[in-house]
Amino acid sequence: MLVNFAGKRIVITGAYSGIGAALVELLRQAGADNITVLDIKEPETPIDAFIETDMGNPVSIDNAVATITADDKPPVDILFNNAGVAATMPADVVMRINMLGLKRLTEGLMPKMQSGGSIVNTASVAGNRWAEHLIEINALLAISSWDEGVAWVADQAELIADGYFFSKECVQVYTMQMAKAATAQGLRMNSVCPSPVDTPLLPAFRETMTDERIDWAIETGAGRVATAEDQAKALLFLASDLASYVNGVNLLVDGGYGSALQMGQFTALGS
Ligand SMILES: NC(=O)c1ccc[n+]([C@@H]2O[C@H](COP(=O)([O-])OP(=O)(O)OC[C@H]3O[C@@H](n4cnc5c(N)ncnc54)[C@H](O)[C@@H]3O)[C@@H](O)[C@H]2O)c1
Repeated sequence: MLVNFAGKRIVITGAYSGIGAALVELLRQAGADNITVLDIKEPETPIDAFIETDMGNPVSIDNAVATITADDKPPVDILFNNAGVAATMPADVVMRINMLGLKRLTEGLMPKMQSGGSIVNTASVAGNRWAEHLIEINALLAISSWDEGVAWVADQAELIADGYFFSKECVQVYTMQMAKAATAQGLRMNSVCPSPVDTPLLPAFRETMTDERIDWAIETGAGRVATAEDQAKALLFLASDLASYVNGVNLLVDGGYGSALQMGQFTALGS
């Protein structure tokens, strides 16, 4: 077997539905026998442990970290930070779940992770324009206190806008920034950046970004919407030894959307 997750301790956030649920299925096919899910809803697919966790709530996250890292438990090998919400939620909630919570969980678990392991974040093509806000993103990422992070977010309402694009820019930058620290610990950190994916979250993106924009992104890319499994395959690859020398990469899994934009191979939105 080229990939085999038997004996690996795996933690996944947001695996009740969509990409996370597809990932659980693929991991099972690849031998995974120790999967812990953190979500607000308990998955219906069989997993090994479920810890009800609100990724927007620091107390809930800290409780999950304490449970996962209890003395009698083996170290974590793989962390998938996949939970996320759309801008149908208020911007501060989007920022808490998509970024502040992701960072808090990572920093809670990473020191206890086993060398040879891997962290994979689910970012988005919505974060591709991170370079335009790098100074501000670095300022937020430098804040270690939860309350100060929340206060910073409240102060930057104009920059953060509806929260979704900015939160995913932060996830892309965080992935690159943490790659060095990951290496020092024998770990790797990467992200997958999906374009629109056919999951229960897609109607929320259609509502906040308009049908026109979502359909344009799909047509500019592969001409078909991504499936949750398309994304799960890339997540699984980055977590596996097949990606043993891949670190600090934000992998576009977008059917060619990003390259078409870069090469000018698209019809302008609205034309
Ligand atoms: N669907 C898309 O078009 C698309 C595109 C780019 C990126 N993404 C990203 O993919 C990831 C997975 O989303 P999806 O499309 O599979 O949607 P989804 O709604 O099916 O999955 C999101 C998961 O996160 C869980 N969740 C929601 N709020 C939570 C919270 N407060 N705490 C813990 N868990 C919570 C949900 O219960 C669910 O299991 C998200 O990070 C999303 O931003 C999705």
